[in-house]
Amino acid sequence: MSIPQKEKERIENLFEQIKSSFNQAENEKKLYDFKVKFLGKKSPLSIARKKIKDYPIEKRPAWGEFFNKIFEDLDHFYLKKQKELSQKSLDQKIEKEAMDLSLPGPYCIAGAKHPITRVIESIIKIFTPLGYSIQTGPYVESDWYNFSALNFPPFHPSRDLQDTFYIGENHVLRTHTSPVQIRTLQSQKAPLAVLAPGAVFRADSDVSHSPMFHQIEGLYVNKKVSLAELKGTLSYFLKHLFQSSKMKVRFRPSFFPFTEPSAEYDISCPFCFKGCSVCKKSTWIEIGGCGLVHPEVFRFVDWDSTKWQGFAFGLGIERLAILLFNIPDIRLFFENDIRFLNQFSSLG
Ligand code: PHE
Repeated sequence: MSIPQKEKERIENLFEQIKSSFNQAENEKKLYDFKVKFLGKKSPLSIARKKIKDYPIEKRPAWGEFFNKIFEDLDHFYLKKQKELSQKSLDQKIEKEAMDLSLPGPYCIAGAKHPITRVIESIIKIFTPLGYSIQTGPYVESDWYNFSALNFPPFHPSRDLQDTFYIGENHVLRTHTSPVQIRTLQSQKAPLAVLAPGAVFRADSDVSHSPMFHQIEGLYVNKKVSLAELKGTLSYFLKHLFQSSKMKVRFRPSFFPFTEPSAEYDISCPFCFKGCSVCKKSTWIEIGGCGLVHPEVFRFVDWDSTKWQGFAFGLGIERLAILLFNIPDIRLFFENDIRFLNQFSSLG
């Protein structure tokens, strides 16, 4: 072996230094930087190896072997260290991202049904066992569905611009759910019983009026239908809605172009039964309009009014919600104030 002892020791020192640098690398990036620095083309070790070619030819194999062993060992050491560091960083990552499954989950605010939806659903629940199905209609109605087919004379005050939102000349935002009566008579056969809940629109806004509010329309058609059946149905419904057997319903004669006879119906005040500020000391609260289907309405949709009779009723959902939940201002329903809406979330 003809490697000078001094040079051999220098390289071996270098080898130990490199190994200890690799050992000190705290992560894979540092380790790689050390590799480039100590084993790269311009590193002292590589430069020393390159010098082999200047040595006498008979000395070169021994030097070659020596360097190969050094590089091989360092390579080996590097890979071992790299594996170690990569495992370490994986362990750290796992530890950092570990979930403590015993901790409570993130707080999640559950949404709740709007009070108007709740009232609509309660009403549907009462009528469904009586055989009523749900019918809907569009918000934008033609003048014919909203007025003419419901027997409104051409110059009836309800057509007045003050109440009705007109869309062009022949269309309106429906002012009530009664046009669904017409659509039902056009699409179904008697006997029939439908409920039509939905939004309606009128140009009116104050504490007790909103330009958009909700109604439910009821329509029942059969061979023989009486006012007594209408009253019985409404009284059954309202007793169940207010969960009070004491609840009374009274009819007051009224006028609607599409019913004859027509009535407005009131319920006994659910708050007092003897006169309070809600019922303005009258003990009665107005709920909606109703009556027997006008023969002219049957005629408009080509039904034989000598063969069929019907009753219809309408009611304002907000009005009922105000009574059921004791709410002072109709506008609260549409402001989407979370403090107001949250008060209904516990109702299930
Ligand atoms: N559509 C009427 C209104 O909005 C209510 C009503 C419905 C009256 C059905 C009679 C029959 O005031």
